[in-house]
Amino acid sequence: MSLAAARLAAEGIPGDRESLISFPGGDTPLGMVEAFTAMVNDGTVDITRTRYVSLDEWVGLTEKDAGSCGRFNFDNLINKMKVPFLEYHIINGKAPDMNEECRRLDGYIVKYGPLDVSVLGIGMNGHLGFNEEGVDFSLNAHVTPLSATTKSVMGKYFSESLDLEYGITQGIAQIMAARKAVLIANGSHKADILYKAFRGPVTNAVPASILQEHPNCYVVADEKAAAKLRISKNV
Ligand code: PGA
Repeated sequence: MSLAAARLAAEGIPGDRESLISFPGGDTPLGMVEAFTAMVNDGTVDITRTRYVSLDEWVGLTEKDAGSCGRFNFDNLINKMKVPFLEYHIINGKAPDMNEECRRLDGYIVKYGPLDVSVLGIGMNGHLGFNEEGVDFSLNAHVTPLSATTKSVMGKYFSESLDLEYGITQGIAQIMAARKAVLIANGSHKADILYKAFRGPVTNAVPASILQEHPNCYVVADEKAAAKLRISKNV
């Protein structure tokens, strides 16, 4: 899964112009980011004209905080690459004015986007970034209350218990405008939500289901996560 997703991401980087890419944080993308970094370091992929923008962040945390998305970006990607991105924009979840931080993120994507590649994980509730259940699909960057499901799984990212209530995220409009979307999922715990997102109706009750309408979306899953997606007849 990780290798396939890293290759899809690399192939989405155009050779003839500047580009913009985005990866998620979390457990799922670790192997993908490692594989992508290896491709950068062995020269398979050229990111010298590529900008990187983070997908989301916990409100209250910055890249300095363990368990934050920004920290994930630095520890696993930016600081591991022998060749730097042209530039990167990491969301600050502790900005004094979070609305202004949303506008900064929007401005960056308007200036350098649209995204050439958006790699995404899927939450247990079907969220993309922090686009939680009920999200307005037309939104750009926004701050949102964390859903009960997100709060119930968030403990795995932090060694101490944190009282986090909000997330800041790229919006579905920005994700849907990406030239290529790559959704990755692994493990049997993701089988039900993957099935709902890609075999069920498009609904903001399952935010990832909107990707059914993306013109160039790849779903890359391991056998366990994909267990319910198997096509049982020839189509
Ligand atoms: P995970 O998170 O990779 O840690 O399961 C996925 C997500 O919430 O997007």
